[in-house]
Amino acid sequence: MSDNAVYPVSSEWANNAIIDAATYDEKYRRSIEDPEGFWREEAQRLDWIKPFTQVKGTSFDQQDFGIRWFWDGTLNLSANCLDRHLETHGNTPAIIWEPDDPTSRNRILTYNDLHEQVCRFANVLKANGVTKGERVTIYLPMIPEAAVAMLACARIGAAHSIVFAGFSPEALGGRIDDCASTIVITADEGLRGGKRIPLKANVDEALEHHARDVSRVIVVQHTGADIPMDESRDVWWHEAIAAGSHICEPEEINAEDPLFILYTSGSTGKPKGVLHTTGGYGVWCSMTHEYTFDYRPHADGSNQIYWCAADIGWVTGHSYVVYGPLANGGTSLMFEGVPNYPDFSRFWHIIDKYQVEIFYAAPTALRALMREGDDYVTRTSRKSLKVLGSVGEPINPEAWEWYYNVVGEKRCPIVDTWWQTETGGHMITPLPGATALKPGSASRPMFGVQPALVDPEKGTLLEGATEGALVILDSWPGQMRSIFGDHERFFQTYFSTYPGMYFTGDGCRRDEDGYYWITGRIDDVINVSGHRMGTAEVESALVLHPKVAEAAVVGMPHDVKGQGIYAYVTTVAGTDDSDELRRELVQWVRKEIGPIATPDVVQFAPGLPKTRSGKIMRRILRKIAENDVGNLGDTSTLADPGVVDDLLANRPHA
Ligand code: WT7
Repeated sequence: MSDNAVYPVSSEWANNAIIDAATYDEKYRRSIEDPEGFWREEAQRLDWIKPFTQVKGTSFDQQDFGIRWFWDGTLNLSANCLDRHLETHGNTPAIIWEPDDPTSRNRILTYNDLHEQVCRFANVLKANGVTKGERVTIYLPMIPEAAVAMLACARIGAAHSIVFAGFSPEALGGRIDDCASTIVITADEGLRGGKRIPLKANVDEALEHHARDVSRVIVVQHTGADIPMDESRDVWWHEAIAAGSHICEPEEINAEDPLFILYTSGSTGKPKGVLHTTGGYGVWCSMTHEYTFDYRPHADGSNQIYWCAADIGWVTGHSYVVYGPLANGGTSLMFEGVPNYPDFSRFWHIIDKYQVEIFYAAPTALRALMREGDDYVTRTSRKSLKVLGSVGEPINPEAWEWYYNVVGEKRCPIVDTWWQTETGGHMITPLPGATALKPGSASRPMFGVQPALVDPEKGTLLEGATEGALVILDSWPGQMRSIFGDHERFFQTYFSTYPGMYFTGDGCRRDEDGYYWITGRIDDVINVSGHRMGTAEVESALVLHPKVAEAAVVGMPHDVKGQGIYAYVTTVAGTDDSDELRRELVQWVRKEIGPIATPDVVQFAPGLPKTRSGKIMRRILRKIAENDVGNLGDTSTLADPGVVDDLLANRPHA
């Protein structure tokens, strides 16, 4: 393989795909030159209750800043994901659920089944006083009830706020408080790789210190664990849905009414509640799911089996486990477990078991499986596979080649989809029938997306083959609309760095063919196993420990996780900087935030490199963490250049 490997579109793909190269060019040009016309047509993929007459009302400029799409139209996204498919596809599987333990019973919910469950649960929400415009917190594992709860919220116009089931009680409590929800949906326990996760106990703990307004906790009985129920607050899901009606008419929702909030980490402060609305987001998920995965029924009308392995706690699960595939009447596989349980063949066994045609996963999982050797893959068939997807972080060419050659046996195009929680769905990605592939490049923009590169310091637009900060020049329907409760922070975070443009936080290179190569975050966000972690959040958690005086956290390269977490810690005077304390701090962070924030390295530092004005020079800390110590750059502006020598001498991994 050369560095410049290119994999052209096969003629079979070019001749049969929804979008071929010529169609891509034509549609892309139209989407930019005539956005009103393009989106007026594209939005017809959803059923509208009151058709919109307005299409695009957006400005990234400070004086008339605002983002709205289709804003005089009304619709219901739950009806778009369910009701409209019933007549023709009522008995088609909507969700195939594969449990953590392969010997346990799986579940297949047809569109009729899912519709009934959603209507029943929507009535439960109503009976518990949830009204349109309210927020509902969902803290569930990967079980069908998670999709049911989401769609039930959408049905009655309540916004869901899903908190990943791996987050700690502390993190959960903070998120419940921030969006002021009065109701939490959870399960007795989650199951991952045979391990039990005490979800209900976590909720109980979260509600002890936070979220005192929560008056109802609805609990799915999943593992059957014996858990305490607070009679005045807690109810069982199965009892509640059995008690009510199975009929629930979908509410009429304005296109710009909130659909959900999802918390994500930024470079400063607490996680932000990314707010998405209904119409534009629905159009974006449905469109990108169809085009990126070439998703449509087989010639005989049956569904392609589609599997996105992301958790519903992340935006990928929102857009590509639930809303995109179901809006398109698809069959979405939902997997409760992990790639290495009971063994490293699990993903490929599931693909064979259900004849999965489209598989979408994160590079971190692929890297972890790759190092176990090809045998776990090649002992399975995988003949059903047609398209492979990658998401969440840059995929290194080595992992790309392995995915392509070993998993896909050179038959399956890889769609390396670049996007963000904020963007709602795919922004830069190959299309299987249209785009020649280059391993490691997310390639070219989705319809309506205008990526550009700017000089990070000057903010000027850069032309041609070059590298810079990645911005988007104009709005697209799936764009987030606000940060919940802090619209000013929304503007400041994304539109003030480079005025008039949306700043992604990513660095990027563009090659001579106009392909985009994401190089990673250029702000203080690190990407651990495809999950975003704010260095500031980990620092805040560390300094809460009584023995920590100061902490600085940076990313470090990590073979499997992409990036790991490297923490420099200054302890309070008189502390014994022992290995025991190191372990204690690691546990402390896990407890404060959750296992995904586990520091990989803790280095005790008597002092941190600071400028004379007291600002920590992270550049130096990053270099040391990367083990790139030959070129630390200019250290003469440091208040005390001596601290660097100490940091170098005491590197735990040196
Ligand atoms: C950040 C967004 C995409 C949804 C899941 C993560 C990085 C994402 C890619 C990719 C290179 C990628 C970026 C981005 N990222 N996809 N295909 N190639 N980098 O969403 O948690 O909001 O994180 O993930 O750095 O800014 P998120």
